[in-house]
Amino acid sequence: MALDIFEKIKANRGPIGQHAKGVHGYFTFPKLEGELGRKMTFRGKECLIWSINNYLGLANHPEVRKADADSAAKWGMAYPMGARMMTGQTSEHEALEAELSDFVSKEDTILLNFGYQGMLSAIDCLVDRKDVIVYDSESHACIIDGVRLHAGKRFVFQHNDMASFDKQMERATRLVEETGGGIMVISEGVFGMAGDQGMLKEIVEFRKSGKYNFRLFIDDAHGFGTMGKTGAGTGEEQGCQDGIDILFGTFAKSMASIGAFISSTEDVVEYLRYNMRSQMFAKSLPMPLVVGARKRLELLRTQPELKANLWKISNALQKGFKEAGFNLGRTNSPVTPVFLSGTLAEASNITFDLRENYAIFCSIVVYPVVPKDVIMLRIIPTSTHTMEDVEYTLETFKKILTKLKDGVYRTDAIAQVETDSLGSAKFKLDNI
Ligand SMILES: Cc1ncc(COP(=O)(O)O)c(C=O)c1O
Repeated sequence: MALDIFEKIKANRGPIGQHAKGVHGYFTFPKLEGELGRKMTFRGKECLIWSINNYLGLANHPEVRKADADSAAKWGMAYPMGARMMTGQTSEHEALEAELSDFVSKEDTILLNFGYQGMLSAIDCLVDRKDVIVYDSESHACIIDGVRLHAGKRFVFQHNDMASFDKQMERATRLVEETGGGIMVISEGVFGMAGDQGMLKEIVEFRKSGKYNFRLFIDDAHGFGTMGKTGAGTGEEQGCQDGIDILFGTFAKSMASIGAFISSTEDVVEYLRYNMRSQMFAKSLPMPLVVGARKRLELLRTQPELKANLWKISNALQKGFKEAGFNLGRTNSPVTPVFLSGTLAEASNITFDLRENYAIFCSIVVYPVVPKDVIMLRIIPTSTHTMEDVEYTLETFKKILTKLKDGVYRTDAIAQVETDSLGSAKFKLDNI
């Protein structure tokens, strides 16, 4: 008899899902309430929030809120209906694409209704079984899943390791000489977990040197709006925007909305418009998202102080952490990972202590994303944070580190949720 799929699911809950019973609603699926900003409410308590990618503070910018509300009142959320190719085209969509192309210095742009699907669908659309993909080992899930759709060979290079890149390119080049295909290199502008920039300049140099022939596809989800003189992204930051053949950005981070885009040559974008399945067979972005994105892009371009403040906060935070002896890994972007050594149970206790006793909310990243016995507390600065927030957070983290070293967080079990008589989750820890 065939295995019952539901039985299989019951038995194997997945790497994070296996802990769901004890952590749901607190460590996972927490509810942040109130207006998006530096202070929000978590389980009835006001917390300092360091975990949303509202880099430029646009989420609650009054002009953004007004543009969103006005366009929702004017258009509703339905218009336009259908896919772009069929009945979902509007002049607003075209105008946003033109503005994005201009901003990132590319010939043309296609909007995507979701970044994740768009990225994997673009990979699927651009390469065929004769082609080879060469990609960074720490690529985001949307790249990994796009690569999984690829019918041809793929070679992965060690994260940001140019010797490994060289080796994989050599293998890829040998292979395409047999298949008659091409090579697509895929990496990221800013790696969103550890905050280090991709080696875009170095990769572009490889092509300039004539050693290999390939096209470069960069996911700049975290670099768009935060990096480069104008905020055009990591390519601008590294002075190699021209060398990026296909550029992906999302509206889900600096733009504080939903949707995404890919910019490239007119020819490539036209090909994507007519071949990219995630857009051909899915509804066009609703008008308020498009009009709202135009307003956000306008502010991103015309209010450089937003990015300046993001960097002021990021620099102060990172400098303070480093001076206090914290390990921030390799970040060279606003993303600020604080690496500590400890167990999963200790990580949960630290997070609990931070939230309950210091009213600081940041994301916690544990195995399998980081090695066992490594805890990453991931801090996302935004332009809405203040220098007092930075000071308070640094002081708090110093106390946390002392407690960690003193064994205060040492327990065997992950901090567990208990449900009180009202049915809301309540945490109990003996020694905090
Ligand atoms: C590097 C990277 N690429 C792509 C995405 C997906 O973007 P979206 O949220 O628009 O689907 C994200 C967002 O989580 C990301 O961090």
